[in-house]
Amino acid sequence: MASRIPGFYRLGVQERRRVIAELAGLDGATLSDVLRAGGLDPEAADKIVENVIGVFALPLGVATNVQVNGRDVLVPMVIEEPSVVAAASNAARLVRDGGGFVAESDPPVMIGQVQLAGVRDPDQCGRRIADAIPELRRLADAAAPALCARGGGVRGIEVRDLGEGMVVVHLCVDCRDAMGANLVNTMAEAIAPRVAELTGSTVGLRILSNLADRRRVRVRARVPVAALACQGLEPTSVRDGIVAASRFAELDPYRAATHNKGIMNGVDAVVIASGNDWRAVEAGAHAYAARAGRYGPLATWSVGPDGALEGRLEMPMALGIVGGAARVLPAARLVHRILGVESASALGEIACAVGLGSNLAALRALATEGIQRGHMALHARSVALAAGAPPSEVDRVASAIAAAGEISVEAARRVLSGDTLS
Ligand code: MEV
Repeated sequence: MASRIPGFYRLGVQERRRVIAELAGLDGATLSDVLRAGGLDPEAADKIVENVIGVFALPLGVATNVQVNGRDVLVPMVIEEPSVVAAASNAARLVRDGGGFVAESDPPVMIGQVQLAGVRDPDQCGRRIADAIPELRRLADAAAPALCARGGGVRGIEVRDLGEGMVVVHLCVDCRDAMGANLVNTMAEAIAPRVAELTGSTVGLRILSNLADRRRVRVRARVPVAALACQGLEPTSVRDGIVAASRFAELDPYRAATHNKGIMNGVDAVVIASGNDWRAVEAGAHAYAARAGRYGPLATWSVGPDGALEGRLEMPMALGIVGGAARVLPAARLVHRILGVESASALGEIACAVGLGSNLAALRALATEGIQRGHMALHARSVALAAGAPPSEVDRVASAIAAAGEISVEAARRVLSGDTLS
């Protein structure tokens, strides 16, 4: 399947659906049917969360040009912010020129925590748990037989002394293609009474950790310097501007937060589209960004030996393709089929590739003309909609307010009522 679709953005919604259905080998009518009104009816929504009064729709776009580990992939993204999908597609085209994104994942191991309080002798407590590892492992695995049958299960049991009489047992569980929260919580609860008995201490919390640092994804991207030419600027100066922006994020947590926000624009949009828990991914990302005791960037850029721009992203990525909301959200199921992913790791690698691409696009804009010109031109369409323009009028109104440099709801209303902006 080719993800390079020149002119995709110029097509209408129906036409884009036709192209995606064809490329992904899906039935066009089914695709349109699933996507109508966000793909979820209120009756089904009422069975997913509580006190439902309706469903809340967000735009679903498709990033083009993305290639990960040599495979072209069409990437559905759910996001309300203009320019993110376009930016991810543009950046993916630059990275494509350098061979596409290269990604790898750790095994899908999540950590379950069992908190012990009132521990008088932490060393002895640690020894007792260490001696009982085979038994605890059996107990935990017995609580998740289906996971074990799929080749997952406990991979390790570790003990950490937190001081103040508090010890925490880490149950490291290979969750295979599940995100794993329910599995890990069940397993942590299953071993807790025995841990209390063995150590003579009081069990507190039994819950997974969202700092999923055993389940990281690493993505690399390379952009040949010539591909960076823009607006008459020397490509080497664009490259050096991106590298300086990356260094800024390394030196300053205030900048690192925004730098990472740009990465999460891409990551979250894929995580949401695939029906995964984006709060879990966000929590893991930021905790990981602060792992050295100081908040830093999840991705950095440097100049490679041949002068190319090289980027690297590393972050925890707790996603699933089985279980969870993807099972009950028809649009998420459709997204999985468009992505064609066969493992949770492959999904995580795509999300991270889009994150790194989003970061590249943001830094490239910031290091050259600034973010506002491109962003505001696309934002003008949301402003026109907010001013009450019908969809058929949005582009005309957006162009008028963008050309006049007056991107406001008030200006859009004036255009709608027939005024010519001076
Ligand atoms: C806006 O959504 C994201 C950016 O602020 C990211 C960045 O500054 O790197 C443009």
